[in-house]
Amino acid sequence: MRVVTIIPTYNELESLPLTVGRLRAAVPDSDVLVVDDNSPDGTGRLADEMAAADSSIHVLHRTGKGGLGAAYIAGFRWALERGYDVLVELDADGSHQPEQLPSLLAEIPRGADLVIGSRWVKGGSVVNWPLRRKLLSRAGSLYSRIMLGIGVRDITAGFRAFRRETLEALDLSAVESVGYGFQVDMTFRVAKLGKRIVEVPITFVERELGVSKMSGNIVVEAMLNVTKWGLAARWRKLAGRQA
Ligand code: GDD
Ligand code: MN
Repeated sequence: MRVVTIIPTYNELESLPLTVGRLRAAVPDSDVLVVDDNSPDGTGRLADEMAAADSSIHVLHRTGKGGLGAAYIAGFRWALERGYDVLVELDADGSHQPEQLPSLLAEIPRGADLVIGSRWVKGGSVVNWPLRRKLLSRAGSLYSRIMLGIGVRDITAGFRAFRRETLEALDLSAVESVGYGFQVDMTFRVAKLGKRIVEVPITFVERELGVSKMSGNIVVEAMLNVTKWGLAARWRKLAGRQA
């Protein structure tokens, strides 16, 4: 099983080396792909230095901040072309603990097509989030679950492992959302294909270094998209019944 862990970065100069170091120690068999959007703080240059010192680390440079979703799509394409069997998503800021990656990977040989590291299943948790952010995440997940009619509890989660066939079955060029919406979009697409999605509990630890890139706009974009997708799915069902 050839595994690559994709880490999107935008101004993660302090966090990236810590996260990659932990990942190399916890899952030495996983290659690493950093996808940097020309970070003004020089994260891309640091990633190049890390890659020069360790042949299992690779870097994909993009020209400017194009959003989390676009960075992941570029990373998926890079990894599929190179024949990896499992593609992992991991934040650079330490919120996703590399030490918990083995419990995600263990579900792949057991038949999972997509494994989600979940904050909102039994055993999962969040450390250092204000109540406001916890409620937002839970409410967002609940709304999406009802609107889209899928059972995933942590639908915006960004700690994931995809079997390559799952991504090959999707039309990646059709995925246009950024931010939280990208994660929901991917979950919905995988669910619609009838693929097996498994959630495993994780402890999400809020970052200590650097700043979050999530914004109010991204939340609004996600809510509007979920509403649109949910209504479209209902409409298709209704139309199908009448035809
Ligand atoms: N290349 C690139 N381009 N990377 C980006 C961009 C971008 O435009 N925007 C964010 N990132 C990177 C960050 O550098 C970090 O490594 C990761 O994406 C997550 O960004 P954060 O800004 O730390 O996100 P968060 O902590 O607010 O959000 C987390 O929770 C969300 C909700 O569950 C993430 O895990 C999200 O994936 C998740 O949807
Ligand atoms: Mn974060």
